[in-house]
Amino acid sequence: MGEGEKGRRPAWEWDEIRQVGTDYADVAEVERYDRRMGEFRDFAAEDASILEELALPGPGRVLEIGTGTGHFARAAAKAGHRVTAADVSAVMLEYAASRARDEGLHGIGFRRAGFLTLPCEPGSFDAAVSVAALHHLPDLWKAVALRNVYRALRPGGRFVLRDVVFSWSGDNHPACFESFIGSFPESTRGGAVVHAAREYSTLDWIMEGLLRRSGFRIVRAVTGESCLVRYLCEK
Ligand SMILES: C[S@@+](CC[C@H](N)C(=O)[O-])C[C@H]1O[C@@H](n2cnc3c(N)ncnc32)[C@H](O)[C@@H]1O
Repeated sequence: MGEGEKGRRPAWEWDEIRQVGTDYADVAEVERYDRRMGEFRDFAAEDASILEELALPGPGRVLEIGTGTGHFARAAAKAGHRVTAADVSAVMLEYAASRARDEGLHGIGFRRAGFLTLPCEPGSFDAAVSVAALHHLPDLWKAVALRNVYRALRPGGRFVLRDVVFSWSGDNHPACFESFIGSFPESTRGGAVVHAAREYSTLDWIMEGLLRRSGFRIVRAVTGESCLVRYLCEK
């Protein structure tokens, strides 16, 4: 597992290793993660639908950024793909790597790096995935992040991006946030409040602009539960 690249980077660059909002460098938080998420997410169904959207014709090179506990990385490895799974949290990566070992999966390359710091050759991946991670960066740095993902993909490569993206018109943002928070089970609403108040989820029209300006074609954008938007993009 590679160390963060932070030491060699310019002082003006966003420090993505520093946790924003929910602290995924906290061991107790990470240990609770699967259980907490499992209260409202069906990981198996999510991972299967991402693999279906990627539509890889055979074993491919798949990059996941913000892998967390690594459920998608394990599903992709089981489907025969060569997976690089990156995350800025060393604690998350330890947890993800141990889950992979427990399942006898030894081929996933876990990397301690993120959207801004992952070194990779241009065009070195057939597909890229990121779920619920990009909102940890402010919009300016999302633009840099998406450009990096674009560069990492081969021409025609697909990118599945799923994240909390807000949509409101006029001045109804209070109703929008209340409905976002209310859509979570009671036990996880505290996390949703932290998300709204301290993390960097953006608006749908900004996200679409960021994706297009990074070079992606948006094949489709589907609005799901709890403001989670599912983008399927192509280089
Ligand atoms: C809400 S979790 C999502 C984890 C997983 N993708 C999932 O869907 O369950 C967000 C993850 O993004 C990671 N993260 C935060 N900022 C990041 C960045 N700049 N680059 C990559 N990962 C980042 C966190 O450490 C955390 O593991």
